[in-house]
Formats: sequence, C-alpha cells, structure tokens
Amino acid sequence: MEDTNKLLKSLKSLEGPFPKFDPANIPSNPNELFQEWFHTAIKSGVHEPHSMTLSTINRFGHPDARVLILKAMDEDGWYFASGSNSVKGQQLKMNPNVSLTFYWSLIGRQVRIRGTSLRVGKELSEKDFLERGEVGRAIALLGKQSKVLPDSKILEESLIKQIEQVKSNPDTVDPHWCLYKVTASEVEFWQGDRERKHIRLLYRMENDKWIKELLWP
Ligand SMILES: Cc1cc2nc3c(=O)[nH]c(=O)nc-3n(C[C@H](O)[C@H](O)[C@H](O)COP(=O)(O)O)c2cc1C
Repeated sequence: MEDTNKLLKSLKSLEGPFPKFDPANIPSNPNELFQEWFHTAIKSGVHEPHSMTLSTINRFGHPDARVLILKAMDEDGWYFASGSNSVKGQQLKMNPNVSLTFYWSLIGRQVRIRGTSLRVGKELSEKDFLERGEVGRAIALLGKQSKVLPDSKILEESLIKQIEQVKSNPDTVDPHWCLYKVTASEVEFWQGDRERKHIRLLYRMENDKWIKELLWP
C-alpha cells in the first residue's frame, strides 16, 4: 500500500504538450465544437477516443457510471447502445437524466455533457444490433448483462449455443437492444494546461439558445 502511495505521488499529470484552444473562436453550438475536438483527438493518436463514461442515477438516487462506446453523433445529440433490460437500461427508464464524460489524456482534453436520454426508434436500434459482430449479438441475446454469473463455465456453454443460433438465424434481433440519444442541456469543454491555467468553456441551453461562458479552472 505504501509503495502504491509513493508511486501515486511520483506520477505526473497534464504534462503536455497540448493543442492550442482559443475559446474566442468557436462555433455557436457545442455539437460542432465536439466534432472538431473529436477529429483532433483522432489525428493526435488518442486511443479509443469514442470511449466515454455514461453516468446515470439508480433507484436510490445514487449515481452510477460505466464506460460505453459512442456509436454516433449529429446535430441532435450523442448516441450509445445497450440492452434496455440491463441495469443502466432500467435506471434510464426511471430517470432519463444522464451525463457523458470523455477524457483524452494525450491532448489534455475533457468534455462533459449533461442532458437527457431518449430511446430512438425500433428501426435504428435493430440496425445497430445487426451491425454488431456475431459474439456481440450472441452475448446481447443471452439477455443476462449484469446478472450474477455463478460459474464462468455457464457463460462458455451458453455462448457456444447462442453463437450457433446467431449463425443459423443471422437476422434475429434482440428486442431489448436499444439505441439511446442524449440531448444536451450543458456541454463543458476543458482544455488542460501544464501551468494549471486550464481553459473551461461551458455551453448551456437557455430559452432554446446556447449561451457560452468561461469558467474558472
Ligand atoms: C471500452 C468499453 C466499451 C464498452 N462499450 C459498451 C457499450 O457500447 N454498450 C454496453 O452496453 N456496454 C459497454 N461496455 C460495458 C459497460 O461498461 C458495462 O460493464 C455494461 O454495460 C453493464 O453496465 P450496467 O450494469 O450499468 O448496465 C463497455 C466497456 C468498456 C470498458
């Protein structure tokens, strides 16, 4: 434990160099700026820039969070996919308020999106499901995500059977599979700085208009 704490003290963060960010020269809506930052992340070699943390609220009003893949984005919002029968799916049914957090350490950038999630139509969810690989579809069709697994052999055996089913019925769609769209009410762009003068730019929706404000680091 002591060794770990020594190690923790020795670790550096936000060393840079980072790309320049000029908050005076930005698009009028956060979706566009997100796209710019996302492209910069890819060009800079950020590993898995489409991994993000989805935070939800559980039935006791406590926060819960896990990493998911950003499946798509457009001028309306950010999209992710999961089983609607999963823990997060049940939480979203009770409380659609969510946040999405991206951190791209290589470029010292964080994006925080706060908003509401909505299930998109059946057709798009089915399309997303059929685009998954065979194993991904088989796992989803088992419908057991986050349930207690008494023995890992059960997973192996059930998966082998389910993959065979997927192979012989490639058009089968998991009725619980769902594509969700997050519509933002606030989006914060955070550019780290090695001198700790981090730039924070908040877009917040007010009367159907995006207001832009700088925040203290
Ligand atoms: C990099 C990464 C990507 C993931 N992508 C997804 C995803 O797109 N959809 C999903 O349901 N789970 C994904 N997971 C698994 C989730 O983090 C989580 O374990 C799972 O969805 C169960 O969450 P829940 O119990 O809160 O419902 C991913 C995990 C990692 C580490």
